[in-house]
Amino acid sequence: MIKINENYLKLTSSYLFAEIARRVEAFRQQNPQKEIIRLGIGDVTKPLPRACVDAFRKGVDEMGEEGAFRGYGPEQGYGFLREQIARCDFQARKADISADEVFVSDGAKCDTGNIQELFAGDIVVAVPDPVYPVYVDTNVMAGRTEKSVDGRYGGLVYLEGTPANGFVPAPPNQRVDLIYLCYPNNPTGATATREQLKAWVDYARAEKALILFDAAYESFISDPSIPHSIYEIEGARDVAIEFRSFSKTAGFTGARCAFTVVPKSCVAYAGDGTAHAIHGLWNRRHTTKFNGVSYPVQRAAEAVYLGDGPSQVREIINCYMANAKLIKDKMSSLGYSCTGGVNAPYIWIECKSDSWKFFDMLLNDAGVVCTPGAGFGRCGEGFIRISAFNSRENVEKALSKIEEAVK
Ligand code: MLT
Repeated sequence: MIKINENYLKLTSSYLFAEIARRVEAFRQQNPQKEIIRLGIGDVTKPLPRACVDAFRKGVDEMGEEGAFRGYGPEQGYGFLREQIARCDFQARKADISADEVFVSDGAKCDTGNIQELFAGDIVVAVPDPVYPVYVDTNVMAGRTEKSVDGRYGGLVYLEGTPANGFVPAPPNQRVDLIYLCYPNNPTGATATREQLKAWVDYARAEKALILFDAAYESFISDPSIPHSIYEIEGARDVAIEFRSFSKTAGFTGARCAFTVVPKSCVAYAGDGTAHAIHGLWNRRHTTKFNGVSYPVQRAAEAVYLGDGPSQVREIINCYMANAKLIKDKMSSLGYSCTGGVNAPYIWIECKSDSWKFFDMLLNDAGVVCTPGAGFGRCGEGFIRISAFNSRENVEKALSKIEEAVK
C-alpha cells in the first residue's frame, strides 16, 4: 500500500498565494466586467531590461549554431555568471565571497525551500513571524514540527516582529540551531542595520547555529548605511548562507534565475560533533537533483552586470520604488500606519481590522488585490501587504479606488 508523508496533513491550508489566486478568480468570475488591479503577490510587471533581452536572444541563437551549441552546463552555473556575481555583488562590498561559493539556480523559493534537507530532523528551527511561508511550510513537510494550533506549528521558535521592535526581532534567549532571516523583509519591508545583523552573527557563532539569509530584495536598498549582504558583517562567512534572486532585481520571475552562496568555511555538525562543510553537502545535493539553469537565461542574468545592464536595472527599480512612495504616502495620509516602502518594494500596513476581511473588502469594493498579513503568520493579523510591482498608472488608479473604498 502506498503511504503518504503525513507531515503534509499538518499543513494548515493551501499555499498563501494559491489561496489569494483562488479568491481573485472567484471574484473575477462573478464580476467579469470589473477591473482588477493586482498588488498582491510580488510579481514584476515591467519587461526584462534591454541588455538582458539582447543577451538572452544571443544565447538562444548560439544554441542553434553548430559549434556554439551547449548541452548540459555545470550544475552550479557557468563560470561567466558566477564570476560576475562574486565580484559585483560581494567583493565590491568588501564581502569575501569567491565564484566557486556561488550556486546558480532557478529560484530563491526553491533554494530556501530545499536547503533544510541538509540538516537533521531534530534541530530547533527559528522563523520570524510574520514570515515568507516557504520557510515554515518546507520544515513542516520535512517533519520538524508538530500540528498547527492557532496558526502556529508546535516545535518551531517564532521570532515575533511587531511595531515595538520595528519588525526586526532580536536573537532569542534560548538555543536555536537554524535561523531564517530576510532583509529587506518580505512581507514587512523592514530593513536590518549592521548592528542588528551583527547581533545575529554573534549569536550564531556562540550557539554553533546557522543563519539562512534571504536577500532577494537587496537591490531595493537605497540607504547606504544598510548592509546588502550578511557577509558584510565580520564572521558571517562561517555561520550564514545567503539567497539572492534576479526575479525582483531584474524582472526574472518568468525567466527564472537566482543563486545561493555557501561559503566554504560554513559548517554544520554530525551527531559525534565533527564539523562538515555545508558547501560540499549542498554541492552534492545540487548535482544530484538539479541540472542547471539554461544557457540563454544565464547569459541574460550576466547582462545585469555588464555595459548598460546596471543602469537599465536601476531605472526599473526606481520606477517600482516611486510606486512604493506613492502607496506609502497615500496610505499614511488616509491614517494607516505603514512600514517598508523605502528600501523595499513592499508596504506593510496596519489595517485595524481582520486582515482577510480587509483583503476581501479591498477586492470587492476597490477591485484591488493585496496580501492579507495573517497569511504570513499570527503577528501579521491586523496588517495587509501592498506590493509596488505594477505600472504607475495602475498604482495611482488602485490608490484612488482604495481611498474611495475606505472612506
Ligand atoms: C511574494 O509575493 O511574497 C513573493 O513574490 C513570493 C515569491 O517570491 O515566491
